[in-house]
Amino acid sequence: MYLKKLIGMSAAVALLFAAGCAAANSGNVVTEDQLSYGSKGTPPKVEYSKAAPGTSKRLPRSYENAPPLIPHSIDGLVPITLKNNACLGCHMPSVAKSMGATPMPPTHFKDFFFATKKKLIKQKLYEDVIAYKARLTLMAKKEDIAPQRYNCVQCHVPQANAKPLVANTFKPDFRDPSAKHHSKLYKNLMEGVK
Ligand code: HEC
Ligand code: HEC
Repeated sequence: MYLKKLIGMSAAVALLFAAGCAAANSGNVVTEDQLSYGSKGTPPKVEYSKAAPGTSKRLPRSYENAPPLIPHSIDGLVPITLKNNACLGCHMPSVAKSMGATPMPPTHFKDFFFATKKKLIKQKLYEDVIAYKARLTLMAKKEDIAPQRYNCVQCHVPQANAKPLVANTFKPDFRDPSAKHHSKLYKNLMEGVK
């Protein structure tokens, strides 16, 4: 009896939910089938950039302070292991300039993981990071990298010539035009934190 009631109730909830979704979706509906290769067979083969580092062109940032996409080939540079991280050979702040690569930003040398909001404020992290930057730029060593930032390809990804099944109409808004090419996160990290 109790079970029957429960089933009845969940059915009613499901119906309500479906009705709600239908109402919210009435307009431009993208079906599941349009979004996937489900009934279209296997996806076509894609190719990643073969351009060696130093010969590619930086890609536009997806949005303000988005992790930049990797424009060059990463053949032979992965996997990243504890002993060997080839990315550092060109992207560590101490060498980046001479390699023509973008240096890793100050945020990558600060361990935010265990810092609670309260602690962050106490440490005046905002000022701290900026002050830290000068020292970082030339002196940071592999051990100074925050552990969460060591595995670069967890956040930075190469791009393939895959055609999106559904066009993406998202257009990023950059508050500062220079943010189209450089991240400013270390400067506005504390934005909105009171
Ligand atoms: C031999 C030097 C070299 C190595 C090794 C290297 N890069 Fe690069 N990287 C560059 C250069 C130079 C650029 C600028 C674009 C270009 O000229 O190809 C760049 C660009 C980038 C960018 C875009 C930066 C921006 O401002 O848009 C990212 C992200 C990146 N690399 C990540 C990586 C990762 C992750 C690895 C390791 C898997 C790596 N790179 C290994 C030299 C290198
Ligand atoms: C946890 C995700 C994450 C990991 C791991 C990570 N990054 Fe980033 N990276 C970001 C984000 C987000 C930004 C943009 C915001 C910022 O400055 O922190 C960024 C920005 C950058 C930039 C652009 C700096 C600029 O001035 O515009 C470079 C270069 C870069 N990362 C290189 C690396 C390299 C090399 C590694 C590995 C040693 C790495 N990142 C690991 C998330 C990550």
